[in-house]
Amino acid sequence: MSRGEKIKAPRGMFDVLGEQAGARATLETRARAILEGAGYERIETPALEATELFARGVGTSTDIVQKEMFSLQDGGGRSLTLRPEGTAPVCRAYVEHGMHKRKQPVKLWYLSSFFRHERAQAGRYRQFWQVGAEALGSDDPAVDAESIALLATLLEEMGVRGVRLRLSSLGSSESRGEYRERLQAHLRAHEASLSEEVRGRIALNPLRAFDSDHEGTKWVMESAPRLLDHLSREDAEHFAQVRDLLDVAQVAYVLDPTLVRGLDYYTRTVFEFTSDALGAQSGVGGGGRYDGLVETLKGPPTPGMGWAAGVERILLAGDPPPAATSPVELFVALAEEPREEHGAVSRLAAFEILAEARSAGLMAQMELAGRSLKGQLGYANALGARYVAIVGRDETVLKDMQGGSQEQVATDTVVHAVLRGLRTL
Ligand code: HAM
Repeated sequence: MSRGEKIKAPRGMFDVLGEQAGARATLETRARAILEGAGYERIETPALEATELFARGVGTSTDIVQKEMFSLQDGGGRSLTLRPEGTAPVCRAYVEHGMHKRKQPVKLWYLSSFFRHERAQAGRYRQFWQVGAEALGSDDPAVDAESIALLATLLEEMGVRGVRLRLSSLGSSESRGEYRERLQAHLRAHEASLSEEVRGRIALNPLRAFDSDHEGTKWVMESAPRLLDHLSREDAEHFAQVRDLLDVAQVAYVLDPTLVRGLDYYTRTVFEFTSDALGAQSGVGGGGRYDGLVETLKGPPTPGMGWAAGVERILLAGDPPPAATSPVELFVALAEEPREEHGAVSRLAAFEILAEARSAGLMAQMELAGRSLKGQLGYANALGARYVAIVGRDETVLKDMQGGSQEQVATDTVVHAVLRGLRTL
């Protein structure tokens, strides 16, 4: 960057301003009501974690760990990474704080920013926000169904258009071993038609082949064995119960045996919500079960289930209900500019009214930019102020902006008069 060039936000990162900030506040309010109503507690974890957490938790064969992490060395030469996702950090916190000793399941939710060094495009950013929910400590299929239903409710309340839910089961890691071998045999038998990337992953992560856009690979995958047809009896029974529960909760889904998620920790139930209102990046939110993750992070064997949804994608595909705006009940204006003879005295009096109004619980603002009286009234009007107190050297005029009336009041009774006026509304 040459000197004198304006500094911009980094590629794929953005400022949250005005209306966007309002829409996000609405999303947060709705998410809190839905999730805390279902017993989820808020959790926030650090933005930086030991790189090892994601290597072990998310998996070294994933795109996230192989290509997308923002990593740095701290002063002691330790490698830290800006969190690319929230599940591994939440499980780390569960282990670190001995949460297995609490009543199970422990339900936690978050709304935080995450970082992935991806090619930036509409709906795909390098710093993005997720709202997420994780339930640890129970493998009851009702945990799966409840978790999915809560995300369905959130998307509905945010007015997300064209929502579809794809659902599958990956089985438990033991039963997956045998299936992996079958799939690997199928891939090797058709190796020549596969993309280079898929060929390179046959040993490490053959399931990802279902995710490929490569024509030859897609053709090979059409005849590939399906995991859903090879679930163990227990896994198939668990999945059947999840589906029955979703049916009674009237959450519509399509079974998609080709559904693969880009993280390695999943076991049993996996799902993804997409929206027709989004382009290429159609995933609004997704998740599933991760029954081995806590143990991978050196905790006691602990089942887990959860999801995360992209805040930007919810807002892009949604029609959020308008944010509640904070009404200005009192605007304190100055009859004279502070630099005029008595202006400084009026400013002191105005500031005192402001402090008094706020301690009485009023939403109050005062003139801070040296506007003319006409300018101040115009500004107060634009703010939607209910009352304006025009503070002069000897007198204060209280103007009712709704009713149009005005009265002269003693400066120390302004707040009282406003409170009385609001009560008679
Ligand atoms: P994920 O599918 O990688 O899952 O991300 C979840 C959601 O985050 C996506 O559906 C998408 O809406 C949003 N998202 C992901 N990457 C980006 C990006 N670069 N720009 C904008 N939005 C993005 C997880 O992260 C898992 N931790 C979910 C989970 C929780 N599984 C179990 N518990």
